Amino acid sequence: MPASTKEEVNVSPNVAVAPPQPERVPDPCQVVIFGASGDLTKRKLLPALYHLQQSNLLPQDFAVVGVARRDLSATFAPDMQDGILKGGGVDNNDPKLKPFVDRIKYFATNFDDDAGFEKLKSYLADLDKELGTRGNRLFYLAVAPEFFADIIQRLGKHGMTQNTGDSWVRVIIEKPFGTDLDSARKLNADIQSVLGENQIFRIDHYLGKETVQNILVFRFGNGIFEPIWNRNYIDHVEITAAESIGIEGRGPFYEAAGATRDVLQNHVMEVLSFVAMEPPDSFAADAVRAEKLKVWRAIEPIPVENTSRGQYGPGQVDGQDVIGYRQEDRVNPESQTETFAALRLEIENWRWAGVPFYLRAGKRLAKRVTEVTIVFKNPPLHLFKGNTSDDKVEPNVISMRIQPDEGIALRFGAKVPGPTTNVRQVNMNFSYAQAFGKSSANGYERLLLDAMLGDGTLFAEGEGVEATWALFTPILEAWKKQGMNFPNYAAGSWGPQASCDLLEREGRQWSSL
Ligand code: BG6
Repeated sequence: MPASTKEEVNVSPNVAVAPPQPERVPDPCQVVIFGASGDLTKRKLLPALYHLQQSNLLPQDFAVVGVARRDLSATFAPDMQDGILKGGGVDNNDPKLKPFVDRIKYFATNFDDDAGFEKLKSYLADLDKELGTRGNRLFYLAVAPEFFADIIQRLGKHGMTQNTGDSWVRVIIEKPFGTDLDSARKLNADIQSVLGENQIFRIDHYLGKETVQNILVFRFGNGIFEPIWNRNYIDHVEITAAESIGIEGRGPFYEAAGATRDVLQNHVMEVLSFVAMEPPDSFAADAVRAEKLKVWRAIEPIPVENTSRGQYGPGQVDGQDVIGYRQEDRVNPESQTETFAALRLEIENWRWAGVPFYLRAGKRLAKRVTEVTIVFKNPPLHLFKGNTSDDKVEPNVISMRIQPDEGIALRFGAKVPGPTTNVRQVNMNFSYAQAFGKSSANGYERLLLDAMLGDGTLFAEGEGVEATWALFTPILEAWKKQGMNFPNYAAGSWGPQASCDLLEREGRQWSSL
């Protein structure tokens, strides 16, 4: 929602709420989390599972089993309870809490220990008998990427990956899925040698966000937007994923990743596919994934001249002095890793030919905001040209705010009351919080539920991941060859000037956020 607008018109908060979908409760099952001692399990996964429990969306016969190297059997369940309480929306007296925590179990093994995996298999089978979980397993790999293939292959070797009779086995894999096209292909081949594609759930937590899913509802659940959602009416599209935080102590991870591998290749490309895809013929996984894949495959190779990258130096964020990237803990003082990346791409298909898409993602930017901005073409005749404060005709803009202040704004010109015809830009706003109340959902609820139900619609699939890597790998390789004079933007700014140049050389500019 651009800050430049002068007036606000709020969409009534009395938005009619659609009747809830019939409840979808999964089969009895165990969620088995590898890497359970890590932060993700406590901060995101257990709070998400508990929110499902609160909404009666978990099966009655259910267990969570944490798996990691250290022996944490005595502390794991209380520690997870602490995570659930900190996750919000629950207090200690909640009657559902204790029965849920009683079903949190722990099993210690090294990930390369065959004897450990054999014992894990018997442990899970015993739990089936004790808790009625019927052999259904959702494995969750919350581990470093180098363990993905090994763990899956070892599960296969010990007979834990087969769907048998009525029992199912599914595996959720965290990002990053590969670090370039070759590694993504190899990882796909390794895991597909053990699992069927319909057992593999490659998670991208952006697809769990309500506001990302709402892009499809906005486009395909309404009649008025889709007719103008194309090159005839749209001038350009911007997608920004800006964070004001730095790398938060994750030096070694971020040194290898950078903004492109961390956010642009996955989260931003997923959002782009929802903005640009054709209407699928149903909301079934295969139909949605097929349309997303067509978008990624229709993107022209991106010349390196249409990219820019940056790395933050010291600066100020929210009035506080912050250090530069190269001064962060466990970061090479001469690091060439980009903490900001932007690019311009085109989708060569009937709908989008000639419409530039500008994407950017970065750390330590001026503020945290993820937004899709659709900028429309100007009207054919500038009837009111002399009647705006700066003599310019402003385009109509639809801004879809993914986070924070989730919502959608439509910007248009309105007549300023008075005896002359002066035009000023106003915003028509829809706010999620106003219309539906504040949600404590963290995105993982929906995705965990869908995986337990076997619905892969909101997960990445193998070919899609390879298609996005095919676009980014040449850029990363070209960047590697050309050193950069980093740092080139101050923490707390909007990134390097080169990112603005991508638009300015075409007479455009990033919309203010
Ligand atoms: C993660 C990245 O995938 O997404 C992080 O590894 C990033 O670096 C995070 O901060 C952003 O997620 P969100 O939900 O806060 O926008």
